Amino acid sequence: MTEIKNVLILGAGTLGSRIGLQAAISNYNVVVYDIHERALQQSLKVMEKVLKYAAKVRMVNEEDKPQILSRIKFTTNAHNAVKDADIISESVTEEPSIKEKVWKQFGELAPAKTIFTTNTSYLLPSQFATISGRPEKFCAFHFHDVFTARVVDIMPHPGTHPDIIPLLFDFGKRLNQVPVLVKKESPGYIFNFMLMALIGAAGRLKTRDIGSIEDIDKSWMVNFNMPMGPFGILDNIGLDTAWHVTKDRDDGASKSFATLLKAYVDQGKLGEKSGEGFYKYPNPAYKDSDFLTR
Ligand SMILES: NC(=O)c1ccc[n+]([C@@H]2O[C@H](COP(=O)([O-])OP(=O)(O)OC[C@H]3O[C@@H](n4cnc5c(N)ncnc54)[C@H](O)[C@@H]3O)[C@@H](O)[C@H]2O)c1
Repeated sequence: MTEIKNVLILGAGTLGSRIGLQAAISNYNVVVYDIHERALQQSLKVMEKVLKYAAKVRMVNEEDKPQILSRIKFTTNAHNAVKDADIISESVTEEPSIKEKVWKQFGELAPAKTIFTTNTSYLLPSQFATISGRPEKFCAFHFHDVFTARVVDIMPHPGTHPDIIPLLFDFGKRLNQVPVLVKKESPGYIFNFMLMALIGAAGRLKTRDIGSIEDIDKSWMVNFNMPMGPFGILDNIGLDTAWHVTKDRDDGASKSFATLLKAYVDQGKLGEKSGEGFYKYPNPAYKDSDFLTR
């Protein structure tokens, strides 16, 4: 099996930038590819910001920063991007038609040695394995936020070659992540599946008017000593994203919750990123020192 030295990131957005940066911190040669030049420019800015944080919390040494960034190349040229890649980590938009197009394109361009991984949040690797042309080398390898939430899900599809799994475990550890194996294909992997259950329950408690947003969050925060509750988490994820995930579910509880989320979205209240969601930012009430006692 391939020894991983060269990492290709597809998609220079939120996650692609973070994975690419962590790979460079872990001494890999990194190429970041996107169809938009502006996304690549923005990606470098995101990396510089995250690197500043990483140096502040002593994850990296201040003096190593230029060398880390020098290991990362940015390109919109697909052919050049992939020619030396030992592994691809795909983080393009969470839209099946876009991912299909990208996997068909890179399946045709990639050298035979390249391992294919997708960072999809809720889609399944078997949706793209065949179109990539090498299902045996295709696996989901799903990050959370890379630097603070460090679980990486390794989720093969039925056609993934078993040798890929230990290789990804090793790669995940070298990327300073905690790898976990998702033994069967399952939307949402392990952590996101549990998170959906928590958020769904919080949504039901609110839409049935059993508890207020603050009291639901307080209950979770006090008993598990957590910095935020489910509605704080939702603000963090983005209420638009949460609505996209919830709206197509069949059950009545999800439909009621989707209606509630949509009402916020329609008012431009998308959570932390827009300055308001269930709480107001940058100083949400759940961070007040007396939130739990008032
Ligand atoms: N945001 C998160 O917290 C998070 C966490 C884990 C996993 N993910 C997953 O990672 C993936 C990316 O999410 P994101 O939040 O980084 O999205 P994003 O919107 O920030 O970035 C997506 C990038 O893909 C690029 N892109 C679109 N079409 C492309 C193409 N044909 N070729 C190359 N690049 C293309 C876009 O230009 C954009 O820069 C999704 O599958 C998502 O589910 C996201």
